[in-house]
Amino acid sequence: MTEEAITTPPRELGGCPVFHTDYRLERPALETYRLLNADREASRFAWNDSTEEGFWVINRFDDVREALQRGDDFTNDQVSAFHRSPAMRLIPENLNQPEHAEMRKILNPFFAPKLVRRIADLAQERATALVADIAPRGSEDMATGFGMLYPTELFLALLGLPVEDGTTLMPWVEGQFTGFFDKTPEGQEVAAQTRQALDEYFTAAITDRRANPGDPTTDLVTRLITAEYQGAPIPDDMILTICSTIMSAGLDTTRSALGYTFLHMATHPEDRQLLIDEPELWPNAVEEIIRLYGLVFQDGREAAHDIDFHGLPIKKGDLVWLGLAAANQDPRAFDNPEKFDPERDNLTQHLGFGAGFHRCLGMHLARAELVVALTEWHKHIPHYRIAEGTELRERGSQLRLQSLPLVWD
Ligand code: HEM
Repeated sequence: MTEEAITTPPRELGGCPVFHTDYRLERPALETYRLLNADREASRFAWNDSTEEGFWVINRFDDVREALQRGDDFTNDQVSAFHRSPAMRLIPENLNQPEHAEMRKILNPFFAPKLVRRIADLAQERATALVADIAPRGSEDMATGFGMLYPTELFLALLGLPVEDGTTLMPWVEGQFTGFFDKTPEGQEVAAQTRQALDEYFTAAITDRRANPGDPTTDLVTRLITAEYQGAPIPDDMILTICSTIMSAGLDTTRSALGYTFLHMATHPEDRQLLIDEPELWPNAVEEIIRLYGLVFQDGREAAHDIDFHGLPIKKGDLVWLGLAAANQDPRAFDNPEKFDPERDNLTQHLGFGAGFHRCLGMHLARAELVVALTEWHKHIPHYRIAEGTELRERGSQLRLQSLPLVWD
């Protein structure tokens, strides 16, 4: 943290320091974690004034987990501390109880471990084909190539849509994120065009499933058009929102997790060798990577009413930052928190997938996809390095490496 990144508190902030770091900015790779860790150690709570409105900052593990579990106090009307979004833009994320529980009841079975195993064969098939294609080339940009195509294809398969549409969908995933993070008129124009393209794509899928229903236990679109929510069929516009929410929640994150995993393995040859020698450790390694490299580094919430949170004077309507990534590297919760240790005792006790009612819907899928891809890759391309002279940068707001060019002999 630089000196000017923190100032003394105005009295109304309950004695909290004021942070100025703007976490929406692109930075050199891994710099964000350094700043987040410094924030967490500087103060238990803070106010951050880097955005137009500002927000409360909660970064320590026990506090973050507690707030995530207090959904009646910290609501999902807003899910990012950086800005306010129009109501109900994301489903199920923007729903509160009891509507949220009802919606998750519809969606959960589809993402349960048993059903996720259903796509394990396909994941293996796609990983095998993509790695076989890439290996002879001797180079791949993980952020824009394999890391993006592989999760996109599996997302389509999961929805029961053609895997070949992967390359069509990839620019739309980018467009969605431009909409979330780039609030300029140009950024919002890209977002509007993307939304229209996605709506047309998923509307065609809905129309097709009405004419030719699939199996609702394995085909998500069929499940959504046959399910009842609040005593009636789910309206089409809500189905469209659910599909694009799942897409935005699932694709960028998986791609990003692959990026940070390869960055870690390329720069820590001893960890990579361990996994080459003992590939059965990949499930543990994936869990540890999700703790260590928190991509969704903040969960935003809105205060339902005035809250005295361990002395923090939060007012009704305030935006609150729950610092998942800072909490995951909190030395109060994890020994040697900055070390990659796939055999640590509390391996799964991290907040990388959130906690409470809104815990990640796709976490079993994400784990399965990552384990298959990483095992397959390291079987065929165990030794690789980052292309010389590359300056690695990470996107702000929700972390992702902008590029990760890997080369091998
Ligand atoms: C490594 C990959 C992933 C990470 C790190 C991740 C992380 C997260 C986190 C932290 C949340 C909690 C948000 C909150 O509390 O407001 C979340 C929610 C969610 N995730 Fe994931 N996710 C990943 C992969 C996926 C995948 C593959 C899918 C689906 C295809 C998915 C779908 C969702 C959905 C729909 C929610 C909202 C859940 C709700 O509000 O009830 N995620 N994810």
